[in-house]
Amino acid sequence: MRAGVAVSGAGALVDGVRTALAVLDLRVTDGGGDIRVEHRPELEPEEYTLDVGAAGVRIGAAKRSGAFYAAQTLRQLLPADAYRSVPPAGVWTVPGVRIEDAPRHSWRGLHLDVARHFLPKREVLRQLDIMALHKLNTLHLHLVDDQGWRIESRAYPRLHEIGSHRPRTISSSYGEEPAYDEVPHGGHYTLADLAEIAAYARARAITVVPEIDVPGHASALLAAYPEYGPQPDRTHAVLDRWGVSPAILSPLPPTVDFLSVVLGEVGEALGAAPFIHIGGDECVLDDWAASAEITGYQRSLGLATLGDLHAWFLRRLADILAERGTRAVVWDEAFGNGELRQDTVVMPWRGAAIAREAAAAGHDVVMAPVFPLYFDYGESGSPEEPLAIGEAITLRNVAAFEVAPASWTAEERARVLGAQAQLWSERIPDARTLDYRAWPRGSVLAEINWSGTPSDLAGLPGHLRRLDALGVEYRPPAGPRPWQQGGIGRRRSRPGVIDVRAIMERLETMTRNSETYSAST
Ligand code: ACM
Repeated sequence: MRAGVAVSGAGALVDGVRTALAVLDLRVTDGGGDIRVEHRPELEPEEYTLDVGAAGVRIGAAKRSGAFYAAQTLRQLLPADAYRSVPPAGVWTVPGVRIEDAPRHSWRGLHLDVARHFLPKREVLRQLDIMALHKLNTLHLHLVDDQGWRIESRAYPRLHEIGSHRPRTISSSYGEEPAYDEVPHGGHYTLADLAEIAAYARARAITVVPEIDVPGHASALLAAYPEYGPQPDRTHAVLDRWGVSPAILSPLPPTVDFLSVVLGEVGEALGAAPFIHIGGDECVLDDWAASAEITGYQRSLGLATLGDLHAWFLRRLADILAERGTRAVVWDEAFGNGELRQDTVVMPWRGAAIAREAAAAGHDVVMAPVFPLYFDYGESGSPEEPLAIGEAITLRNVAAFEVAPASWTAEERARVLGAQAQLWSERIPDARTLDYRAWPRGSVLAEINWSGTPSDLAGLPGHLRRLDALGVEYRPPAGPRPWQQGGIGRRRSRPGVIDVRAIMERLETMTRNSETYSAST
């Protein structure tokens, strides 16, 4: 199959096939053709059938997403050259197959932290392309944090004017004498950029879930608008170092009104926004405790603790989103105080125990545990690795992950929407490093999310040839290529300093009450 391949069928479905198989430059015909796409309304939206035989290719799908996935599977049946933007000339043959396929999980996600290090729009679009061929369907964009505010606000322009850049970044590692690179860093997406990212994603059957992380992680916001902090006269700076910062928003009504406008701008840019993530993680409540106005407000609401006020604040925002047809997503800290709306999605990052509690309480959950889904941890503790936040999360660790644990009850398992990998970017300064951390662990996550079972990694060698053809600078399973190593300079790895399993154990034993966080910057 090559030049002149013709496709026919229902409009939106054919469009999905053409997008996935852009490499074939498909010609649409009124009927017949080499690829025939049939509307099968009885299938689930992401389900498809694919038949390849002497009479050509037949695709069956109910929705565009199903047709898109059928075409991605067809692309996998072609040689790896089908992943080049301009493949070499020649004729491809497709093996005969009959496939009926549907995903086990509906949330197959990747999270990009574009706050700690900004990722240019073109690189976000490129990651969306890579996600699409893996049938990953959710891009969680962590748009704001202490170290940067990365989205335009027309109502509050100081957010992107002041909050989107910092004069320098810490370059020393844990336990070392602090040192800074003295290099400015910054960038932000305009609302038009965000709309473009969302449309590009939609064409690839991917939903963008933006995160405006509140009330903690607030340094960049407060650098722009200190009046929304608990101590309005205090000045703040966009943070130039990592760790849990004490900067927190005031929970008083003016902050809720302000965030309602900002969330509205983001939601409108996305068009349909089924989910918006509002954070809730790692809040240091000391500045609330020091404010008579805030503690008085807590008492006036009849709330027993500041932890309850934290949950109440997030619930107010979730109520506002619900009025706009959007479900809130929160990190698991927000679940602990039992104030959430029932339709709020909980993203447990501190392990399976809190995930199960949230599921048992009737919340939909998206599994995002540090181990094994924080891909900013290195894949090995070898000194040849480039600097990572810690180590080690291997391909096999990801392959063995149970998205919906067999030990849970059927009701609890049914609450698991799926799983997602986190790419926090303190140690991911650029797109090349992002490729190295994300792939092929992301490929394995995609496989277990789709199948709902652990992977034996049998398909990996063939799949790496596809990533090679595409130009993805993934980490080879045997270890980094010479130029991917950390060297002896500032990218030098520090094996043994941070062990992911020790971190996971500590997080699992933490009480869920967010009053227990203290600053560590
Ligand atoms: C997180 O890692 N603070 C969600």
